[in-house]
Formats: sequence, structure tokens, C-alpha cells
Amino acid sequence: MLNNVPVYHGLSDEEIERLSSDISQTYAKASAHQPAGIENSDEDESSVVDVQVVIGREVPAVPDLLGIDPTVYRQINSAIRSGKQHLMFYGPPGTGKTTMAQHCARSLASKHTLITGSSDWTSQDVIGGYQPIGNGRIEFVPGILLRHFDRPLIIDELNRCDIDKVIGPLFTVLSGQKTTLPYRVQVEQRDSDFFEILPKPNPSARKDIEFAPGAAWRIVATINSIDKASLYQMSYALTRRFAWIYLDVPTDLNDFLQQYLTREQIQEMGSQVVLPLARIWQSVNAVRLIGPAPVIDMIKVIREMDSGLSFSADPTEDQAAIYLDGFDMFILPMLDGIFRDGAQAMTQGICEGLKLHAESALRHRVEQRLRSVSV
Ligand SMILES: Nc1ncnc2c1ncn2[C@@H]1O[C@H](COP(=O)(O)OP(=O)(O)OP(=O)(O)O)[C@@H](O)[C@H]1O
Ligand SMILES: [Mg+2]
Repeated sequence: MLNNVPVYHGLSDEEIERLSSDISQTYAKASAHQPAGIENSDEDESSVVDVQVVIGREVPAVPDLLGIDPTVYRQINSAIRSGKQHLMFYGPPGTGKTTMAQHCARSLASKHTLITGSSDWTSQDVIGGYQPIGNGRIEFVPGILLRHFDRPLIIDELNRCDIDKVIGPLFTVLSGQKTTLPYRVQVEQRDSDFFEILPKPNPSARKDIEFAPGAAWRIVATINSIDKASLYQMSYALTRRFAWIYLDVPTDLNDFLQQYLTREQIQEMGSQVVLPLARIWQSVNAVRLIGPAPVIDMIKVIREMDSGLSFSADPTEDQAAIYLDGFDMFILPMLDGIFRDGAQAMTQGICEGLKLHAESALRHRVEQRLRSVSV
């Protein structure tokens, strides 16, 4: 039963040595631990090449994203030009927030780091804190943010972590002031200096004590506006440190789908027909806003199930069932908690979009599924 629990006989010198060695190894493992959700992109820790910052560059439109309102680029670029350093993309699920954040980071610097918010995060993971470094010693170990202070940091799904707690120590820095961390440079010396974070690039920063951001540093974060209410809230004060840019669902869903199907060479769109999928999407959005990502996923699986299906034609009964498979796989899971009358209106819209007969068994399927997620 005690197989995994080491037992030491305290009086023997060898045993004390063994205990000390085990503790050191455990400390080393603990300090090498990387918290969940932190993954680096475009990055090479060993690289000595400085991050190139692209100064005065406008963030151009993302070629991959269709139907993005031009106001989005106007807001991004005017925020940057006006000196607002930190950007927050928010909006309904699947509207291209992460893609846009990565695009901004790539347009503004040669390297960036992306981390995905997690409720596991502590300020220690992000900013830094004392950690065991082996041989019973502890030392201040900078967190992911300070380790990548030379480049844009994308914090994807920021609302998944306890924002104020995790980046709270950065708050003064985000407001343009120096901040002192509660960590001594010489841990054992009571009169030691404390580590400091400077708000701006500073070539004369004392590197052993002061952390100064590089010219390319900025936070680009994303928040899903459905989750925003249910997950960690951000304080008003911290909210003000970001330029908030709303990524909406495309205004004209039918036009979006026609452009997408043409671009992906799935189907030529000659006429201005309203696609069954556009009707489905519209009736979903009348109840809860959903961006293009799950609809694109739906198109992909529909094509796998029936490669000959025409997206502009009224579907046969079999094809309607395939549309509903795609719906159940990618849209339904996002509709949890919709109201009963919304579910009824959506059922109606979907049945009309798919031109289901009054006696079609599929009507019952749609109604049942939507009722099951409604409250
Ligand atoms: N407007 C769009 N045009 C074309 N493709 C899009 C659009 N919006 C999203 N996509 C595609 O959907 C996929 C997912 O997008 P992305 O992850 O950027 O969305 P998101 O808003 O971050 O989603 P979530 O809310 O789930 O975090 C990407 O492959 C992206 O290309
Ligand atoms: Mg995202």
C-alpha cells in the first residue's frame, strides 16, 4: 500500500542524503512545471534574435476572414495610432477573435506568444513568484508574461482566468506607472531591493532587478461575450486599460455563405438565392448570436456526408437529415439555456429553411433537440 510513498530512516546519514536528494529532485520538477493553457507560438526560447517591431504599420485586413466590418480595422488602427497599447477582441463565439488577435500580433512584430486563459492560473504563473530552485533554495522566477516581455502577448479567452487576480500586479504598469513586485531580489536579505516592472522600454533598466517591456510588447486579448457573464468578470478599472473591439457576426449571412462557398470552390454561386443554411443560421441568430466558425464546421461535415449536395437547392428529406446532423454537432451545443419560446421560433425557422413537410419526422427531431437545451 505504501509502494509510492518513500520511507526514510531519519537517523542514518545515507538516508538523510537520500531524503535531501529526493527533495531537490521534486523541487526541480516543480519549478519546471508549466501551467495549463500556456503554449508558446512563433517562439524559440533559445533564440537570440531580437523581436522586430514593425513601427507605423497599419494592420491590414485578414485575407482569411470574410464579412468583417471595416469599422473593426478602423478601430484597431486608430487605437494603435492614438497610443492605446492593449487590444481586446470581444464578441459572440466563432467570429474570428483569435484569428484577428494573431493577425494583429503578426502584423506588429516578428514574434509573439499566445497563451489560453485557464482557471488554474495564478499570478505566479503569469507574472512570477518565488519558486523552489533545488537544494532547498527559493528564488523569484519570472512568469510567462515577464519572460516574453519583448513581444506581443496574446491572452486568448482571458475571461477563463481570474483576471484581476492574475494580472492585477500589472495594473499600474498598464496605467503607465512603475510597479514594485512583492518579491525581494535577495530572498534572505530583509533590506534587499524588490523586483520592479517598468511601464515602458528602457535601455538603462537594471536587468537584474527591473523588468522593462520591449518596444513590441502589448497585450492582445480575446473574450467570448457569451462566456463573459458566466465566467470571471473584469474590474472596471482594468477594463479601461484596453481598447475594446467588437467582432460581430456578419451582417448579411446569406452573402457571407455565398462568398465562403465560392472562395472555397465548393459551389459557384450564380444567383441571389437564399440558401437553406442562411435561413437556419438566421433563425439561430434571432435567439443567440453565433459566428461563422461553427457554421463553417457544419458545411465541412455536410460535404463529407454528401459530396454532391447543392447548398443553394432545397434539400431532399435525406439531405435535410444531413443538415440536422451538422446542426446537432456544431450549433446545438452552443444553444444551452435558450428560452422555450426562442427554441420554438428556431424550430419553426429551421423547418421552413429546410422546407420540411408538415408530416416529416425530422420536424419532431428538431423540436425535441431544441426543447432539450431550452429552459
Ligand atoms: N468571418 C470569418 N470568415 C471566415 N472564416 C472565419 C470567420 N470567422 C471565423 N472563421 C473561421 O473559424 C475558425 C475559428 O475562428 P476563431 O477561432 O478565430 O474564432 P473565435 O471568435 O476566436 O472563436 P471562439 O469564440 O470559439 O474563441 C477559423 O478557422 C476562422 O478562419
Ligand atoms: Mg477564440
